[in-house]
Amino acid sequence: MESTQILKVEIQDNGVARIELHRPEARNALNLELRQALSETFQKLNKNIAVRAIVLTGGEKVFAAGADIQDFTTASTVEMYLRHTEQYWQSLTDCSKPIIAAVNGYALGGGCELAMHADIIVAGQSAKFGQPEVKLGLMPGAGGTQRLLRAIGKFQTMLLVLSGKLISAEEAKGMGLVSEVVEDENTMALAATIASFSPIAVQQIKEVTHLGQDMSLQSALSLERKAFQILFDTKDQKEGANAFFDKRPAQYRGE
Ligand code: CAA
Repeated sequence: MESTQILKVEIQDNGVARIELHRPEARNALNLELRQALSETFQKLNKNIAVRAIVLTGGEKVFAAGADIQDFTTASTVEMYLRHTEQYWQSLTDCSKPIIAAVNGYALGGGCELAMHADIIVAGQSAKFGQPEVKLGLMPGAGGTQRLLRAIGKFQTMLLVLSGKLISAEEAKGMGLVSEVVEDENTMALAATIASFSPIAVQQIKEVTHLGQDMSLQSALSLERKAFQILFDTKDQKEGANAFFDKRPAQYRGE
């Protein structure tokens, strides 16, 4: 898998792919080149059978300071429309593998929106989240009102998007934006655990959980039941049950 100057990609032997945003001079601000590279990388990793979990990180100091403000200082409405930046986010939305955002330092504006495209957000103690677009005479444009609303509810969302206030990792966890808070150097550990499970089971869990959000409870429960039943035709399910009784770690092959 190719790394570029602004995006480092590494596929580990345990099935974890690590993507690191790397524009330290601009606090990993998301310019068009970085968005495009992210989108292409997610498409490739999604097709790569060796990849079982994807970690998206900004490294040790900063996750991402948002959209690159230089990209839109003088932009017009038509220019912004024609960029269709939503196409770049779509590769993350369409990814069937679990995505873990490992956040150290600032995740602001588009950076917080990027983290919210993940399935799980693991925050290091140093993480700080916020939607400060209002301070720039703007508003969030890639989920910062809507994904946040669905994750943490109306009153906390309004507080963040209307005040531009930054919150700590612990505050974000208390609101339900962060899945867990760990020491900064431990944000990768969870991905290794998930990658050790049956990739078929993991992907079914992800798909059903996502689709179920927008369905009636009855339909979603039916979808869940069907997916549960489908897993009984996998070798991984037999391996999981046998390993339990053999008192040994299961070896899941994704079959
Ligand atoms: N876009 C472009 N450049 C950025 C940037 C951004 N979002 N954030 C930081 N930079 C640049 C700075 O301009 C600075 O460049 P120079 O060294 O050339 O001056 C460099 O990165 C370092 O920045 P700071 O000196 O400010 O670093 P800091 O560590 O003191 O502060 C920070 C870090 C709190 C993240 C601060 O840089 C900051 O507040 N950044 C802007 C955050 C923001 O407003 N994000 C929302 C952007 S709009 C958006 O995201 C909406 C959307 O999707 C369309």
